[in-house]
Amino acid sequence: MRAEKTGVTIPYPNTQPVPAIAAVTPPSGAARPRVTFLGTGYLGATYAICYAELGYEVLGYDVDADKIARLNGGEVPIHEPGLDELLRRNLAAGRLRFSTDIAETADFGDVHFICVGTPQRADGMGADLSYVEASVTSLAQHLTRKALIVGKSTVPVGTAEWVEQLVGKHTPADLGVEVAWSPEFLQEGFAVDDVLRPNRIVVGVKSEWANGMLYAAHKGVFDLAATEDREVPLVVTDFATAELVKVAANAFLATKISFINAMAEVCEAAGGDVTQLARSIGYDPRIGNRFLQAGLGFGGACLPKDIRAFQARAQELGAGEALRFLHEVDLINQRRRTRVVQLAADLLGRRSGPAGPDLSGTRIAVLGATFKPNTDDVRDAPALAVAALLGKAGADVHVFDPQGMENARRTVPELTYEACMNDAVRGADLVCVLTEWAEFRNADPVALGELVNGRKVVDGRNCLDSTLWTQAGWTYRGMGRP
Ligand SMILES: NC(=O)c1ccc[n+]([C@@H]2O[C@H](COP(=O)([O-])OP(=O)(O)OC[C@H]3O[C@@H](n4cnc5c(N)ncnc54)[C@H](O)[C@@H]3O)[C@@H](O)[C@H]2O)c1
Repeated sequence: MRAEKTGVTIPYPNTQPVPAIAAVTPPSGAARPRVTFLGTGYLGATYAICYAELGYEVLGYDVDADKIARLNGGEVPIHEPGLDELLRRNLAAGRLRFSTDIAETADFGDVHFICVGTPQRADGMGADLSYVEASVTSLAQHLTRKALIVGKSTVPVGTAEWVEQLVGKHTPADLGVEVAWSPEFLQEGFAVDDVLRPNRIVVGVKSEWANGMLYAAHKGVFDLAATEDREVPLVVTDFATAELVKVAANAFLATKISFINAMAEVCEAAGGDVTQLARSIGYDPRIGNRFLQAGLGFGGACLPKDIRAFQARAQELGAGEALRFLHEVDLINQRRRTRVVQLAADLLGRRSGPAGPDLSGTRIAVLGATFKPNTDDVRDAPALAVAALLGKAGADVHVFDPQGMENARRTVPELTYEACMNDAVRGADLVCVLTEWAEFRNADPVALGELVNGRKVVDGRNCLDSTLWTQAGWTYRGMGRP
């Protein structure tokens, strides 16, 4: 571990030289800082469980009593590979528990990580910070000794300063409670490994004490890396940069996806094949082929709302022009959804009117509802959005997803949900593969062909072997492919 040697700088206002990471004693008197995670959703539950696995004493706090009861009972309320076993092991080891009691949470922790949601506001593109405000306020009001409050939620730049003011308002000055920000980069589906083995840790701090506490609170990660002969780069910076790192990373990833999807649009018009185009440009190491798969575009609870909130915040700061391109990135992404509906209409021989195609009287199987494989998360999922659009166009839509059924049914109840892939495709005039689960990628087109009414398939993720499907008698349409 070379955290101290990563050439990091702390641009304090007076541009002091970088301070060494000071050894600090946790205010609770424990040998290692005791950590809490406020908000035990996809981010907070994963963190709480993984940090107990790293040997920390952990308490997860949430206002959702049902979620907390399930976690205490050894049940992970989300689908995330590998998390169930770690939860049960660490509950049994006595290092991990969950609570709805904020006084107990405040009393327990030395470092409190804020992991609550920051969804898009109902009245605009900006982030809704009400959950951050509520969690920080109630925690601050219950603190009785010094502690470090660390924001992990993805927030507009300037939030950490505002949180610091909130804390100042709700805690006596002599407690010396401090604030820091450490953005989170985990990916659902790989979250356990991303938390235990992150590719970097970024912290925004204002004092040596905060820096030392955060270092101690991450030492388990650095120690694990050392035993595996890896290094985890640590970037120590100011509040604003730490907040911006996260949204900049997401803006870049969204742009990369929309770039290749824009190329898909051009390929569609010109008769090219975007999959070969992507492979060919991706061989250039300056471009790289990761996140360069054309398809139905990005979704989930992060990229879409984060690029919108970033634009809204830049506008407030007078830098709106700089991020104007993100509007285009968003539009390209949304157009992919209507493209699937168009492809479906073409394959079914339905013409589009001013209100889109009329698909009434057709039966369509939609395979996939989650925003990507290996999660049950359907928030802003392109697959589910397309399924809803097909239903609105009059089709009788039958959906199957390996893990997302419960969430999908709750989100779009008007569709028909089937218990398995075969039930979804049985009698279908068209099959749309919209999330690239292994079960769909590896499906046997010959066997599926026996079940359907018409062998027509839209491959919304370019994840099927088009030759295999065509040989099995299917009319195949991919995204950005001839
Ligand atoms: N999900 C991801 O993959 C991911 C990755 C990186 C960053 N993030 C960011 O992390 C944050 C959380 O995302 P998520 O996906 O875990 O959201 P989530 O909706 O799954 O979880 C949020 C949790 O906060 C709880 N909560 C709400 N108000 C609370 C309060 N006052 N006190 C305590 N708990 C409260 C909710 O009950 C819920 O369990 C967001 O800012 C998101 O952008 C998420």
